[in-house]
Amino acid sequence: MAQFLANKRILLGMTGSVAAYKSADLVRRLREVGANVRVVMTANAKRFITPLTMQAVSGYPVHDELFDLQAEAAMGHIELARWAELILVAPASADLMARLAYGHADDLLTTLCLASKAPVVLAPAMNQAMYTHVLTQENKRRLKEHGVIVLGTGEGSQACGDVGPGRMLEPLTIIETINELFSTYELAGKKVVITAGPTHEAIDPVRYLTNGSSGKMGYALAEAAALAGAKVVLISGPVALAKPKHMEVISVTTAKEMQDTVFANLSNCDIFISVAAVSDYQAHTIANQKMPKESNAFSLTLTPTPDIVANVAALSNKPFVVGFAAETHDVIPKAKQKRERKKMDMIIANQVGEGRGMGSDENEVTIISARQETTLPLMSKHDLAKELITLIANEYKQGQKHD
Ligand code: PMT
Repeated sequence: MAQFLANKRILLGMTGSVAAYKSADLVRRLREVGANVRVVMTANAKRFITPLTMQAVSGYPVHDELFDLQAEAAMGHIELARWAELILVAPASADLMARLAYGHADDLLTTLCLASKAPVVLAPAMNQAMYTHVLTQENKRRLKEHGVIVLGTGEGSQACGDVGPGRMLEPLTIIETINELFSTYELAGKKVVITAGPTHEAIDPVRYLTNGSSGKMGYALAEAAALAGAKVVLISGPVALAKPKHMEVISVTTAKEMQDTVFANLSNCDIFISVAAVSDYQAHTIANQKMPKESNAFSLTLTPTPDIVANVAALSNKPFVVGFAAETHDVIPKAKQKRERKKMDMIIANQVGEGRGMGSDENEVTIISARQETTLPLMSKHDLAKELITLIANEYKQGQKHD
């Protein structure tokens, strides 16, 4: 089976159960397949296995306190919640399931489960009577209803002498299941390079040519691509947005720098998405000193900047290339011409000007490729990005089939 766990950031939560001894093996095997694992232990988990063992197998200090000044200074709980791409609680006790089912955040582990956007997977482990108890089953149903993935349990003789369901699944079975979970992500295992924001082309030491791109569309796409399982490199012009987590973010200023950075990051790139509003022109010469105010009109000689997306699309081993077309009028015909001229696989046309598309929180687009012309209604850039990533992933996969 293909391996989708390499480089994945997995937060392993452990609760009080005799099955905790299996968690050490689970961490070891997760690391063998390339996953990055951080361990969080509840107070009761530490009664069954020591944090020292878990630190030794994971290679990182164990997190166990919600209000620990030192731990918060190193990697605070919110940062840890954001770091995780998956929270796996193994073993998950009846008590953990009950607390989580009702939204408690009374220790570090439950707080992280609530604070993180990552999927939460539970591998229950408990006595068979506790597992089959109507309240545990009710909590399990409630957790599933709220999107928590609750794995099954093994059957057989238990540490307490009982026989029945409630044994934690074996580490290899858990790993196979979460590997499959990651494989269903639309862009699992793919590398996506995205440009965003404007560029600044200097005229003199204090002035530059630019445009009104805020970077919101490109950043939303980068986040959606990362959520879809891609390894994302976001190459950003100057914007006032916070750097998104879970991806490499490289800041650039000019079109030339943006192009150099894109080309330096193209190896093994599967999809290139050019959202940046790259300046089409740069000053022929940049004045060394601030230019004095002229009393009359004055001229500036401009030369074209490199056309990044066209240059990427011209490569013999090019990735799947998606561009954007920002137009004030004749949006669709102009976008179609642009797609053909720049040899892009797909173009996303949006109307800009008068508070639309550029700088705003919402956008309305038409996606054009050789196979489709699809218009999506006005919606937040955040929601739009998720829909666009699905469309891009589908087209990319279709293209792969026909190559
Ligand atoms: O950043 P926001 O405020 O969220 O706004 C989003 C947006 C309106 C900037 C975005 O949705 C968008 O339309 N981006 C492309 C803007 C643009 O430059 O369009 P264009 O039609 O001039 O360029 C066509 C394509 O060529 C684009 O993919 C562009 O990235 C690329 N290009 C352009 C010039 C150049 N020198 N190099 C390029 O790669």
